Amino acid sequence: MANIHIPKPWERISPKATEEKIYQDRRQILKQLGLIGAGSLLLPTTLSACMNPKDGQSSQMAAPDQQAPDFHFEGEENFYPAKRNERYTLDRPLTEEYTATHYNNFYEFISPKDRNIYNAYKYVGKFDTSDWQIEIAGHVEKKGKMHLGDIIKEMGTEERTYRFRCVERWSMAVPWTGFSLAKFIQYLQPTDKAKYIKFTSFASAKQMPGVANQDWYPWPYYEGLRMDEAMNEVALLATGIYGKPLPKQNGAPVRLVVPWKYGYKNIKSIVKMEFVSKQPQTFWNTIAPSEYPFVSNVNPAKPHPRWSQAQERMIPDGEPRPTLPFNGYGEFVASLYK
Ligand code: MTE
Repeated sequence: MANIHIPKPWERISPKATEEKIYQDRRQILKQLGLIGAGSLLLPTTLSACMNPKDGQSSQMAAPDQQAPDFHFEGEENFYPAKRNERYTLDRPLTEEYTATHYNNFYEFISPKDRNIYNAYKYVGKFDTSDWQIEIAGHVEKKGKMHLGDIIKEMGTEERTYRFRCVERWSMAVPWTGFSLAKFIQYLQPTDKAKYIKFTSFASAKQMPGVANQDWYPWPYYEGLRMDEAMNEVALLATGIYGKPLPKQNGAPVRLVVPWKYGYKNIKSIVKMEFVSKQPQTFWNTIAPSEYPFVSNVNPAKPHPRWSQAQERMIPDGEPRPTLPFNGYGEFVASLYK
């Protein structure tokens, strides 16, 4: 795997550099790497679960609004915004909505013309989430396809403010709307044979330029949790953010939020949940087994093979701050790993 260096926010020479300058710097770097330019092909040379930090894009560069949610169901106005669950508190201010909804890691929406993976919001226009079902399979009583609207009506919604930590050291703090994964699992009634859940994302070459143009990735995106992790009270299935249904680039219309784990465990646009007896393979572990293990809990003392995890930076341009063990959720989850 080639190790191409793209400057991170914490590596900027001058913190006062303008966003435009940073954007130009990145284009220059990519040009030197041969990743942009006339007719350049995208090559799998920059593999990383979260390559390119969420920086360097001016809010003036917003594309036409193609990312508005198109998944709707009767009575949805009763579920957004949802009442905040005050049990989960933050030690920092919330990230601005524009930042959290415009710098998104979503490999399915990398355009062949635009190597910046954090521009997903520009390429979600053809993503059709209007009629969304989740397939429930494996060792579970309630099998089959379920309409997401029916699930939300059954589960209800609440708001939780959570920290979020990418493996590449950027972080944010956002208000998710959704429902407890544990509550949903109890409703589905898994059998004793269910030891893990495998989650699968939607994938379509017609709707997602990154699927059409990056055939070296093992689409669809897939992830997994141990059953006891999935049953932990912190695990959330999110259908909204900032009091509204999820924009497409944030993983509409339903995604996983497990904030004590690195960002790549938080799988987006889920179409299938399978209850299995053996530990499932995961997308990033398939690509780079030594870099993205199955459990992947946030741990400042355990460096990634290519960088330290001791510090992080809040997007878009926060100062370095210490990484918290389990991203600050140890009181809820540490006992799972004794
Ligand atoms: N889910 C899918 N299907 N495809 C992806 O590329 N990226 C993951 C995760 N879920 C990803 C995904 C990574 S690496 C991160 S850091 C988070 O989504 C980013 O979530 P955000 O865009 O809402 O910040």
